[in-house]
Amino acid sequence: MTEAAATTRPVYLADTGFYQDVIQGLSNTPRSIPPKYFYDEEGSRLFEAICEQPEYYPTRTEMALLERHAGDIAGLTGSGCFLIEPGSGNCEKVRLLLDTLHPDTYIPIDISRKHLQTAADKLAKSYPWLSVCPVCTDITDTLELPSIPADTKRLLFYPGSSIGNFDPEEARIFLANLARIAGDGGALLIGVDLQKNTQRLHAAYNDANGITAAFNINLLHRINRELDADLDIDAFDHRAFYNNEENRIEMHLVSNSRQTFHVDGHRFELEAGDHIHTENSYKYTLGQFQELATAAGFSACRVWTDADLLFSLHYLEVR
Ligand code: AVJ
Repeated sequence: MTEAAATTRPVYLADTGFYQDVIQGLSNTPRSIPPKYFYDEEGSRLFEAICEQPEYYPTRTEMALLERHAGDIAGLTGSGCFLIEPGSGNCEKVRLLLDTLHPDTYIPIDISRKHLQTAADKLAKSYPWLSVCPVCTDITDTLELPSIPADTKRLLFYPGSSIGNFDPEEARIFLANLARIAGDGGALLIGVDLQKNTQRLHAAYNDANGITAAFNINLLHRINRELDADLDIDAFDHRAFYNNEENRIEMHLVSNSRQTFHVDGHRFELEAGDHIHTENSYKYTLGQFQELATAAGFSACRVWTDADLLFSLHYLEVR
């Protein structure tokens, strides 16, 4: 009989992105972890709770815009399209379009498999006439979709201002990729958060109920749960602020004391005040965003905003 191994710590496979990105991100200067890792089961649940906070204006403002302009959108697209939603989450916003737009097929795409499955099943039950074809993938990787009949119009739907998570240059590349997927005659319906009064932005990312803080802190819980780590959660605080030079909200996890922790045997040391950058959320002007979309191969067709200019909804055609 061979001798038992000295440790039973599992070996992580090289392709588990979370593990690699956490070890890498904690070793980098400045330390950072990509925001896509917020969305495990608990993180997805917390994000939905954020959307219901009174201070978090984007969701309800965008939903009102979708509701109000669904008829215009249907007029531009025509019925029977293939509707493709990268980062579909709970598939709730698309409901505001379905009855009016009447697409042939809906393709929700999400990184969180269980969440995607549940949301797609639920949607398919409410819309028996619609074919729902979910795809589980990381949309920040090169997005390749199962083949779609060449002669069907494609409308890509990217709501929620998720585009704000990308640096402007990454955003251009991502949008160009969406233009490629939409193809000739295709279009993109995208929600984009606007630059505004700093207090308003600050409040949206520092809600009084502490839900955004819990969402940020959940990333640490996830590292402990999934990566054999021993992080002291209480040794970190949530911080979110508006960076005026970069036109973005930044979220960080700030160490409130000197601490040492381990992730799968890798040792990390933080001083009080050291921080891990967890998210950027860029805010645009209408002009800035249209310029970006143009550089990505779209032509700005229509844009709708609310009366307070909090949020914008853009209909962009592939040029
Ligand atoms: C999903 C990226 C649009 O930036 O507002 C909400 C994520 N982070 N509160 C955003 C988020 C903190 C959200 N996006």
